[in-house]
Amino acid sequence: MSAQSVSPQSSPLVRPDVRPAAPVNVGVRIAGTGHAVPVRVVTNHDLAKIMDTSDEWIVQRTGIRERRVCDPALDERTSTLSAEALRRALADAKMDAKDLDLIVMGTVTGEMLCPSTSCVVAGLIGASNAGAYDISAACCGFVYGMNQANALIRSGQARAVGVIGCDCLSTAIDPNNRAVSVLFGDAAGAAVLKATDDTSRGVIASSMHADGNRWQDLYIPRCERDCPADADLATIKFGTLQMHGREVYKFAVGTFTPLIEQTLERAGLKPEDIAMYVCHQSNARMLESARERLGVPPEKLYINIDRFGNCSAGSVPVALDELRKMGKCREGELVMFVAFGGGMTWASSLWRL
Ligand code: ACO
Repeated sequence: MSAQSVSPQSSPLVRPDVRPAAPVNVGVRIAGTGHAVPVRVVTNHDLAKIMDTSDEWIVQRTGIRERRVCDPALDERTSTLSAEALRRALADAKMDAKDLDLIVMGTVTGEMLCPSTSCVVAGLIGASNAGAYDISAACCGFVYGMNQANALIRSGQARAVGVIGCDCLSTAIDPNNRAVSVLFGDAAGAAVLKATDDTSRGVIASSMHADGNRWQDLYIPRCERDCPADADLATIKFGTLQMHGREVYKFAVGTFTPLIEQTLERAGLKPEDIAMYVCHQSNARMLESARERLGVPPEKLYINIDRFGNCSAGSVPVALDELRKMGKCREGELVMFVAFGGGMTWASSLWRL
């Protein structure tokens, strides 16, 4: 060994608090959940005062009545909401931020290209032993993250993972585009996943899909080069969400039920076996039609879009936290997380809690 080299024991990067490798062949449990939304409520009536829309149109087409919108004066943004959601999830799990090995965060509204927002969150909450990275899968970010975190824990690469889903799409909305601006709200949700000796717990079936030929139906261009060849550049404001609503609607309706059915089939289960479907809140009509086709009762498919709008990656974890606070999604139950979004992406995660 040369005089210059540093032995692992003396390296300042190998801290005494780094834990030994976790055991493999473990189960995964959701030890805690939390969510955080901006203080400001924007109702459909508020929007009708500033654009050509109405409460009736929005409720009828989407089920949305109000949404939360970040106030920069209160320092509400993707990183701060996410940090608060994860702090609450850690408190629920009775854990310290230093207990986390990893933070995985689904978002498409990170504040900077570098660093990842999950790194900023780690700094804000003091998660000094955690690795951190973002997942860019639009509304599927949290469901992709749950699948990844489960796999990392089961394979022994991590013991405790904070999974966050957060988007603040109010920062990427053109207020003049009424077809898009009425749909979205800002929110963050988080879950803390932990290894458990009970190997029956955790993900029992999952899927993660993408169709990169359909990205033009939902995208945020930064410049002309990002736009599809047939885009009407005169109507596009760079940095804002562009959406072909009807195409997205058709895609979602055609995808949702088969996605759930295939996931159930992989697990050898039937729709009625599931205690709760925790779905991305994109449109109440879409969710209702999927529920009816599956033949499950309303109380098994949670809807909160009326209060929060479509929160992109934040939708599923906010719904999960609300359900747990209501005493639902209990230990031992079968719960399925489902989402679809820009990319296009779609994903499922079926858990025995
Ligand atoms: N208020 C009033 N009228 C409106 C509004 C509005 N906010 N927006 C559009 N309109 C008008 C249109 O201009 C059009 O008028 P016209 O007939 O005179 O041309 C009429 O309403 C119908 O417009 P459509 O876009 O055809 O309305 P549609 O019935 O398709 O509903 C909606 C629109 C609600 C956006 C629907 O297409 C939808 O839900 N799509 C899926 C959207 C979605 O889920 N996006 C996100 C998914 S992924 C993710 O979550 C990031």
